[in-house]
Amino acid sequence: MDHGAYLKSVFSLEGKTALVTGAAGGIGAAISRGLAYAGAEVALCGRTLSKCRALEAEITAAGGRASAHLLDVADLASIRRCVDEVMARYGRIDVLFNVAGINKREGLLDVEEADYDRIMDTNLKGVYFMTQAVAREMYKRKSGSIVNIGSHNDTAMLGGCSVYGAAKSGVIAITRSMAVECARYGIRCNAISPGHIITELTQVSWDSPNRAPYMKSRIAMERGGQPEELVGMAILLASDASSYMTGQTYHIDGGCLAGGTPWEYDTAY
Ligand SMILES: NC(=O)c1ccc[n+]([C@@H]2O[C@H](COP(=O)([O-])OP(=O)(O)OC[C@H]3O[C@@H](n4cnc5c(N)ncnc54)[C@H](O)[C@@H]3O)[C@@H](O)[C@H]2O)c1
Repeated sequence: MDHGAYLKSVFSLEGKTALVTGAAGGIGAAISRGLAYAGAEVALCGRTLSKCRALEAEITAAGGRASAHLLDVADLASIRRCVDEVMARYGRIDVLFNVAGINKREGLLDVEEADYDRIMDTNLKGVYFMTQAVAREMYKRKSGSIVNIGSHNDTAMLGGCSVYGAAKSGVIAITRSMAVECARYGIRCNAISPGHIITELTQVSWDSPNRAPYMKSRIAMERGGQPEELVGMAILLASDASSYMTGQTYHIDGGCLAGGTPWEYDTAY
């Protein structure tokens, strides 16, 4: 038995084209590298083209296939342009990762309408219309896998994240809607909900003398996660190994929702 060949036959992304939004961010870049190194061609889409181009150069230098594309998920015209550009280049999109996201941490009574709209437009409306544009292409081929990025805040809630949490809870709701409506067209839709992953988005909390110990005590593994620790699930959901998986959300959180660190108890160890 050739274990490498067996694993490749189960998880390989050879012949698949993936589009990743927010591709140059902490989690987006880790997932994009993972998809490319598992054999996919990856369209790296994001607001800052120079960062997507740098990632394209890195992946290409390592022997992978990738291309950089400008995308603002909060702008429907930009979504259409980007999907057209990716379709023109590859002729197909087999896998969509909706990773782009933002947050602004502030209390319920302090949120202003402009910030509410900005977070909702990026984190929920952006996922909705990006998926609609890509699913239109997937419908034609009756095949595809869509993966949305949720959050710890789609289930439990941290203070100062009311708009973000509402948007991410919405992402999980549309993940189920998409799974239900798209299954008969051969399209699967799932979500990965990261716990506390160390990236630019969360560095401010990991640097905080109050929030860092708060988070650690609520993670059974007592540490933040690395973006690369999401890649195994990303490859699974992108590949045919997950052919009977749809409509689900997978929390990757070091045991955060499970209860965090245990209270004091008697033990012989
Ligand atoms: N880091 C965590 O602990 C954590 C936890 C739960 C969920 N998430 C989610 O994971 C995703 C990635 O977060 P990250 O931690 O890598 O953050 P990040 O800030 O490193 O990356 C986010 C990326 O999204 C891009 N982006 C933002 N607005 C955009 C727009 N309008 N159009 C296109 N691209 C846009 C940014 O340019 C950036 O590249 C987000 O959806 C975030 O909410 C992160």
